[in-house]
Amino acid sequence: MAGSDGAKGAYPSFSSRIAFIIVTAGSAVGLGNVWGFTYVAGQNGGGGFVLIYLLALAFVAAPAFMAELLIGRMGKASPPTAFTKVGQMANSRFPWASVGWMGLMGTILVLSFYAVIAGQALYYGLVAAEGGFAGWTEAQITGLDAGFRAAPGWMLFWAALFMALTAVIVSFDIRTGLEKAGKVMMPALLLILLGLMVYAGQTGDMAQAVDFLFGFHQMTLTPRLFLEAVGQAFFTLGVGVGGIMTYGSYMGRDVNLPRATLWIVAMDLFVALAAGLAIFPLVFSSGVSAAAGPGLVFMTLPLIFTEIPGGAVVAFVFFLLLAFAAITSSISLLSPTVARLEEAGWSRRKGAFTMAALAVVISLFTIMSFAGWRDFYPLEALGFEGMTAFDLIREGVSNFVLPVSGFAYAVLVGWVLSRPSVREALPMQEGMGFKLWYAIIRYITPLAIAALFVNAVFG
Ligand code: PFF
Repeated sequence: MAGSDGAKGAYPSFSSRIAFIIVTAGSAVGLGNVWGFTYVAGQNGGGGFVLIYLLALAFVAAPAFMAELLIGRMGKASPPTAFTKVGQMANSRFPWASVGWMGLMGTILVLSFYAVIAGQALYYGLVAAEGGFAGWTEAQITGLDAGFRAAPGWMLFWAALFMALTAVIVSFDIRTGLEKAGKVMMPALLLILLGLMVYAGQTGDMAQAVDFLFGFHQMTLTPRLFLEAVGQAFFTLGVGVGGIMTYGSYMGRDVNLPRATLWIVAMDLFVALAAGLAIFPLVFSSGVSAAAGPGLVFMTLPLIFTEIPGGAVVAFVFFLLLAFAAITSSISLLSPTVARLEEAGWSRRKGAFTMAALAVVISLFTIMSFAGWRDFYPLEALGFEGMTAFDLIREGVSNFVLPVSGFAYAVLVGWVLSRPSVREALPMQEGMGFKLWYAIIRYITPLAIAALFVNAVFG
């Protein structure tokens, strides 16, 4: 049974406030910060994109993150069930569970590409463990990435291994599995990233990296750029699929939800910026293009390890930690469906392995998009030109499912639930902080998301 707070059959919870913050930060901090942020910012020209991303984080994704935690805390169940309960508390007749179900589908879709990228990190860890990267040329490193992407069976193997590890952790109860994993992996990741940033600054072109990420450049603000920035803000915090909601349901009463949100958002932002400042100096001092796409981290970071003394060890630790960062996120992606299946009487183990297997099957779309389907654009006829199956899945989830869910969270918390019930569940005094967040979640978040879609459709 998942219950681990003493009483048998009681709803599970994390052991302490700090445990909740670390594990939930582990969910937020993941491939999205290191792999996703750098590749999407690189493809969208840097500066302007980063600014919109920061605004989206502050006014849309972070307030929605708090709303998602809140629904989890109030509903104390898997997302569809939590939504139904919270909807009933507010006497709303809207089928809120549908938002929960949409999120559950989103979790499996995210896992389907997450596993492939995380699998590549695991594989690079192995290459490093064998003494790899030391003395390698740039061409050898880009070749390793290209070789990996050209081998579907190999990608499938690593993706399946990653999902199996995820399923094992999720099979345990909350405190033994999720909590222990986060407590060990998170602090180590922060430290090593800091070290890499310092090193990249010394060996690469830091000035150009800073200018690229924070400077203003001639760029056209297309609807697509806005969608990507907002989508990235959602993805990086992990808002919109119910992973955060499920963790919110395991949060003890003693956790101050707004303060926890601030900590988690700050940590997440720090990691994304640190990753950017570790990777872009190398992009500019090497021949790799900033717009290289999903392989960017894998083509640039190993460059650091070719030269530094003990590079093989650092490389091994880094890729292992990247895989760990991915695992602390993938366990939160697998948790919501497992929680729902538990409600249907399944064991955690059976739920975890079944859902992991499903994600591996769907991962074939991403794998083939990197390999034989590189130039195959399945929905070209519908106007999605130049988008592979992987692009469609990643952008479909990040730029559509997540913001739509965020909109629903904002409406439920800002409009449907009563103001006192929201305040009491946070809990928060009727002070400045509450007034500000409440105004944002009521007006700015939903309006910004609505405007985004109107712009995308008609812009
Ligand atoms: N926030 C994670 C990342 O940036 O890699 C991805 C993620 C985790 C998305 C958990 C959704 C989620 F529920």
